[in-house]
Amino acid sequence: MRVLVRGAGIIGLAVAEELLLRGHRVRVVDPAPCSGASGVAAGMLAPAAEASWAAPGVLDLGLRGLALWPGYAERLGVPLAAAGTVLVARDGRDLVEARRQAALLAEHGIEAVPLDPAALAQVEPRLTSRAAGGVLLPGDRSVDPRAVLAALLERVEVDGVDAGVDARVEHDVEVLATGCSLRAPYSHLVRPVRGEAVRLRSDDPPSCVVRGWVFGEPVYLVPRASGEVVVGATVEEHDEPAVPTAGGVRRLLAAATELLPGLDRAAVVEVAARDRPGSPDDLPLVGPTHDPGVVLAAGHFRHGVLLAPLTALLVADLLEGADPDPLTDPRRLLEEPCTTRP
Ligand code: GLY
Repeated sequence: MRVLVRGAGIIGLAVAEELLLRGHRVRVVDPAPCSGASGVAAGMLAPAAEASWAAPGVLDLGLRGLALWPGYAERLGVPLAAAGTVLVARDGRDLVEARRQAALLAEHGIEAVPLDPAALAQVEPRLTSRAAGGVLLPGDRSVDPRAVLAALLERVEVDGVDAGVDARVEHDVEVLATGCSLRAPYSHLVRPVRGEAVRLRSDDPPSCVVRGWVFGEPVYLVPRASGEVVVGATVEEHDEPAVPTAGGVRRLLAAATELLPGLDRAAVVEVAARDRPGSPDDLPLVGPTHDPGVVLAAGHFRHGVLLAPLTALLVADLLEGADPDPLTDPRRLLEEPCTTRP
């Protein structure tokens, strides 16, 4: 097929790469490749740590996504960090959050090991000795999204234009992977949800991903082998430009250094904010529209990196005749077009 992919973030590039591997003719257009959320994302491949009672379907998709990552990372030549996530609660109320998370995971048969403060200190000695307890999630992984984007850009050519509507006519199908701004008539399906993140460089980073609650404030820390530690991320509904704010950065660093006091001496190397593509029900929009020439690969909210390889498979399978996945089918949120009587 001749496929036009709009958007060269991790989703558009992953879709294009899969289609190219399968022998389709693909054109990717994006006036600012890799400038959206995936270029700033921490790269948690952590369906267990990110699970929520509010969106059980996200956990199901996340586990399917995670299962693809070892093979995908190997194919792209990008290392995966496999040390798991440790959930950390600073005080007794935070521990309620951690235990609720563990209970949700237990309902789904996912390994979640409760840790008292002494066990927590054994798992990650750099954590504050004042933590109330935690939970180890050994199945979670992480990856450096910038390394993934670089590997995909070696395999996929991007046309840096803002291709107009006319570009469609030269293609059998158009895949919209434009992150938090979809074109009409789909624009109402995504909304920007700001996330701020800080990159630190430490000579003593944590050995695994840490997701914590600090007096009610959520925070996560994703270490890389290089000593980089990504501290994230705020979650803000807004219509303002995505710029880091003093308050957001202050809260992230206060929570991070409360959990890992050694990070007080880390160098700040980057502060950034991007808009995540939120969807109305927190599930992605991957699949057909009522227009046979338009497929969506959008609305991944907090899970774009985790779900990129799965999205690529779902889109490629769909274009080759498979049924859409009912969990992600965008038509759940689209009205049937009106049919006019003759
Ligand atoms: N996946 C983490 C975030 O969106 O902050």
